[in-house]
Amino acid sequence: MLIRTAKEDIKYVMFTREQIAARVRELGRELSEKFQGETPLMICVLRGAVFFFTDLCREMDCQMDMDFISASSYFHGTKSSGVVHLLKDSGIDMEGRHIVLVEDIIDSGLTLDYLVKLFATRRPSSITTVTMLDKIVNKPDRFHVDYYGFKIPDEFVVGYGLDYADYYRNLPYIGVIREECYQ
Ligand code: PRP
Repeated sequence: MLIRTAKEDIKYVMFTREQIAARVRELGRELSEKFQGETPLMICVLRGAVFFFTDLCREMDCQMDMDFISASSYFHGTKSSGVVHLLKDSGIDMEGRHIVLVEDIIDSGLTLDYLVKLFATRRPSSITTVTMLDKIVNKPDRFHVDYYGFKIPDEFVVGYGLDYADYYRNLPYIGVIREECYQ
């Protein structure tokens, strides 16, 4: 049986691992300045943000706590189901804390909108949102993120944590897969 590798399914690379690393370094510097003297609670939204989160935290030099939550709304498709499922919540007391929510991508904006509203009820001092990729969508009322790595066109991207049907997350760069891979 012939099995293609993940790399063979890539139509083109949108951001190389070097471009990603350079941008994450800049974001880490900005966030370190913002939270100097504070101990933010860094929250990774699994699963897509896993690599971005671990890279970003290592580019920050302030004190921090880390926690991991899991949210899902795509379920093997390329369009949001419109319903966010919180598969794993945080067990950490957020009252009075500076929360930093770290995502891999904002598309419809539903996931971050849902999470920010949920965590706001837990009386944190602040909630800062960070995403590696911010899709350019023509909806003025879509969720507005505080920090982003790159703005991207409306294409379905994979790699650096991002998946299609749970595949391709392990690619070290961000790219677009060939149309035939959706079948
Ligand atoms: C993806 C991604 C974000 C969300 C963004 O998660 O990781 O959490 O979708 O899309 P939105 O702005 O339209 O809500 P997904 O549901 O695919 O789960 P995963 O992170 O486990 O891949």
